[in-house]
Amino acid sequence: LSYFTETNRRQILDTLIKGIARMEYRGYDSAGLAITGDSDSDTLVYKQVGKVSALREVVDKEATNLDKTYTVQTSMAHTRWATHGQPSTVNSHPHRSDLNSEFTVVHNGIITNFKEIRTLLEKKGYRFETETDTETVVKLIKYVYDSQRGKLSFVDLVKAVCKELEGAFAFAFKSNHFPGQMVAARRGSPLLIGIKTAEKLGVDYLDVEVANEIEDDAPANEEKVPSYAKRAQSQTFTTSDGKSQAVEYFLASDPSAIIEHTKKVLYLEDDDIAHFSEAGNLHIHRLRRDDGMSSIRSIKTLELELAEIMKGSFPHFMLKEIYEQPDSVVNTIRGRVDFNEHRVILGGLRNYLSSIRRCRRIVFIACGTSYHSCIATRAIFEELTEIPVSIDIASDFLDRKSPIFRDDVCIFVSQSGETADTILCMRYCLERGALCVGVTNTVGSTISRETHCGVHINAGPEIGVASTKAYTSQFLALVMMALQLSEDRISMIKRRQDIIDGLRELPELIKRVLELDSSLEQLAENVLHKEKSLLILSRGFQNATCLEGALKIKELSYMHSEGILAGELKHGPLALIDENMPAIIIMTKDSHYPKVMSALQQVTARKGRPIVICNEGDDRVPDIEHVIRVPGTVDCLMGILTIIPLQLLSYHLAVKNGVDVDFPRNLAKSVTVE
Ligand code: G6P
Repeated sequence: LSYFTETNRRQILDTLIKGIARMEYRGYDSAGLAITGDSDSDTLVYKQVGKVSALREVVDKEATNLDKTYTVQTSMAHTRWATHGQPSTVNSHPHRSDLNSEFTVVHNGIITNFKEIRTLLEKKGYRFETETDTETVVKLIKYVYDSQRGKLSFVDLVKAVCKELEGAFAFAFKSNHFPGQMVAARRGSPLLIGIKTAEKLGVDYLDVEVANEIEDDAPANEEKVPSYAKRAQSQTFTTSDGKSQAVEYFLASDPSAIIEHTKKVLYLEDDDIAHFSEAGNLHIHRLRRDDGMSSIRSIKTLELELAEIMKGSFPHFMLKEIYEQPDSVVNTIRGRVDFNEHRVILGGLRNYLSSIRRCRRIVFIACGTSYHSCIATRAIFEELTEIPVSIDIASDFLDRKSPIFRDDVCIFVSQSGETADTILCMRYCLERGALCVGVTNTVGSTISRETHCGVHINAGPEIGVASTKAYTSQFLALVMMALQLSEDRISMIKRRQDIIDGLRELPELIKRVLELDSSLEQLAENVLHKEKSLLILSRGFQNATCLEGALKIKELSYMHSEGILAGELKHGPLALIDENMPAIIIMTKDSHYPKVMSALQQVTARKGRPIVICNEGDDRVPDIEHVIRVPGTVDCLMGILTIIPLQLLSYHLAVKNGVDVDFPRNLAKSVTVE
């Protein structure tokens, strides 16, 4: 959105397309955009199924009048990941209210009661062109507009619509009836506003307005329409001599889309409605009054650098991120470990340590790779803190409606901090009075804002859909948390010192593991890439590596892969072993080594095809064809070194199998729907 600054259509299209291209890493199946047309009350919509580059081709071919200039303009673009309705051009966003696009909307999230609303609108004669939940929303706003005969303001229309909706949303609405305006709203899905002014921004927060003239459920009519303009404290960004200055706003669900334009951002809260007026003013309203939400939204300065989210010389983000691990683990540790005193200080937990130590149990809740980082660190957490730890997959936790009490500590681990299932669990646990701790990679994310305290893993932006460096940093952050929580346990002094010494040498050891890259590429090429299935076996500290390694392999090579606890081998999986079945066995030196050795023997006795990952210098490993040797470290940190060969292996399998490595099919980086 730009106000009082000349832009032409070409520039606007370019900004939109570049913005959604920056979001490609989240995974999507189609893209679209809407801009103001040749007159102020005219909207042009372009959409295409597939990549952002396909949308760019459509725009290059079809958009005309590219030199047309605007002094005030609002436009929007979107990448869609199908939830309702298959990926197709018509189902992609923006959606329109009618053939004239009187209202257009882009939407993230899911509207769960859309069928009821759609049935009602169909009875009133509305014709739908898609199967999507979003089209219902844009038809509903037109219905409210028409039934109020245009008497409601744009903000009040959006409020009236949002009040009818159940589910999750982040919306941006544009309308031919309100040229130069835009209204955005969120509930459950992330949304932020970037602000760019010609002069330095002179304010560091905005006041939120609470509607107090419309009764929640009463139908709005002319008398009840509030006059925001009269009451509003002006939010125009003025120049030093008091004149309104040119301002550009950027609405986005993720800062990477807008970071090249501005670092000043304001995160919207659930049930906030942001209104951009034709005069360039921004006001934030609440959907309901007296809901206890703070009435100040501060404007933050992002610390993300654009270079950090670029691929550099690597062919794929994933490979870049695997190779970043010697640095990303340093960033997780930096400033938090005193190697001389053998102490860990996580500032974000400082005020909560005694409450956490007093709790009766710790519950980890996460999804996907983040869930595996919890499994990887549970044993050391329990050993160091002597607090019982349970681990839940977020969706399953919700399905069970697991009992949670005031003396529980719930730790939510999420790279993005925006995974819908994990957020819902967090809110469930907050409501029940548990102490909630967030472990995320995204400053300002919903989980980092809404938990009582937490740790940022500081791995830097992760773009590849398959998580790599976030896993090793989550792993480390959780070990560090256990170290800090156990600092008053005398019996653990030696153990803690060994682990902290291990942290110091980790970056160098990771570099040595990365040197295995070309031999892993050969293993992918010569042995594994045509296989249908691959088992990964171990136990104890390496159980999580098996699960995470198998997840990497399936999401990236589309090959079936299963991580198996060696102790369970005899209870079923052994039936899978024959001369055709490759099985990776992780047998690093720890107290479980003899038992894993016995699993290896069970596999070889059945003529299976073992591939062993073991420590350098281990001479007890029998003479088998494929052995990958990694440096050794303290047992509870070994999983950080053993996952890297599997990350590299899955990467090479993906490349050999022609998979779009950074965007494997059907997957998204950030799953913001249930
Ligand atoms: C998606 C991603 C995974 C990630 C999971 C949890 O499935 O593709 O890489 O592990 O979500 O995401 P979170 O952001 O909560 O860690």
